[in-house]
Amino acid sequence: MSLVERDLASVWHPASHFADHARLPPVPVTSAQGVYLQSADGRRLIDGISSWWTCLHGHGHPAVVEAITSQAQRLDHVMLAGFTHEPAVQLAEALLSSAPGDYARVFYADCGSAAIEVAMKMSFQRRRQTGEPGRQRFAALRNSYHGETLGALGVSGTDAYRELFAPLLPDVLYLPAPAFEGHTHADLATDLGADSPEADEAVRLLRAHADTLTALVMEPLVQGAGKMAMPGAGFYRRLVSEARSLGIHVIADEIAVAFGRTGSLFASTWADVSPDLLCLSKGLSGGVLPLSCVLVARGFDDAFAGGPERSFLHSHTFTGNPIACAAGAASLKLMHAERLPSLPGRVEAMTAARERVAQACAGVVRAHRQAGMIVAFDLAPGDRMPADGRLSLAIREAGIRAGVLLRPLHDTLYWMPPLSITDEELDALTGATIEAVAAVLGE
Ligand SMILES: Cc1ncc(COP(=O)(O)O)c(C=O)c1O
Repeated sequence: MSLVERDLASVWHPASHFADHARLPPVPVTSAQGVYLQSADGRRLIDGISSWWTCLHGHGHPAVVEAITSQAQRLDHVMLAGFTHEPAVQLAEALLSSAPGDYARVFYADCGSAAIEVAMKMSFQRRRQTGEPGRQRFAALRNSYHGETLGALGVSGTDAYRELFAPLLPDVLYLPAPAFEGHTHADLATDLGADSPEADEAVRLLRAHADTLTALVMEPLVQGAGKMAMPGAGFYRRLVSEARSLGIHVIADEIAVAFGRTGSLFASTWADVSPDLLCLSKGLSGGVLPLSCVLVARGFDDAFAGGPERSFLHSHTFTGNPIACAAGAASLKLMHAERLPSLPGRVEAMTAARERVAQACAGVVRAHRQAGMIVAFDLAPGDRMPADGRLSLAIREAGIRAGVLLRPLHDTLYWMPPLSITDEELDALTGATIEAVAAVLGE
């Protein structure tokens, strides 16, 4: 049996329909280097979406590989309750000194959803310990995505993910958010969205429900799974400031947008805000091992001091795994030494590439936008829509034939490549994307 046959007989894939495997079987990947994934049958694919928004420095970066191998030889794992080790402390110190504000502690977990759960529970438990038990509800944005465990799904405002499980989910106050379809990178430095009707309505709702709300959960600047909607830095700034003045904790979900994705180390920097709890994952380990964390603002943890009954009631087995933290520490060093200095040039190159695709596919690209290294194209297939309606699957399929991993969110095609992508690789990504779109939606 081939690897794919053995896979289909044994593995259950995420975000995949069983029936689609017959049409588009999983691609067997044997290795990855830089922006390229190498398949067993000799194909080379540009990782146009950083394998679900993780890879920062290119696959197999020697500094990250070396950190992982040497750490694995020294100390593979030890529980973080009652023990500590250099990688967990080193990464925490590096995060705290780079963070967008005054943060005192790092609480580790192992995936993005778990980081959201941690932040939600921290906010909730803090209220119990500061004499505000009436504040136990969360506010979140419509069209948001914060993960798929029940708490994280509960604050995700996208029906496609939550509808089926709605009976299991908490009652959340959903707020409207604007979506600027033509958002440009330069818009990040403006007050875009602050005076939008959605911001006015969101502020009205926050005020009306303030005394029941413990926290507002938000993805700053880009609603990733929400078709890369960009609500504006001004919208984010205004909501954070309003929540603050109403005594509502702010939980920023930077799981997809931190580590240079928006052109700065943290997305919150664009809006000059420092959330109470800042959730990180994906690129945290350089995008190579499961790791997440919550940065906790100074003073927030005070409510957990005192008797043992006040300690935070949450733990995961692999919290602060030494190998994952060593990868994270090496990655953060690379961010400062290599990625951040070259980022403005990469963002400009992405702008030029975005315009090239928009021009070449003008007949079917309805709108396009950008925030740093995140680019999205809204497609309007009209009567060229595939007969079965599976536009995303068809583009994924055509992308693989053209040599690129693309995974559109319904009718929104997007790029989120490794930040290390060179001009030549971006050129290849552009060409392959145009080819894939033309194959599916061309005359
Ligand atoms: C903004 C955001 N938050 C949370 C998550 C959940 O992360 P994980 O899939 O690691 O649980 C994701 C995943 O895509 C995300 O994009």
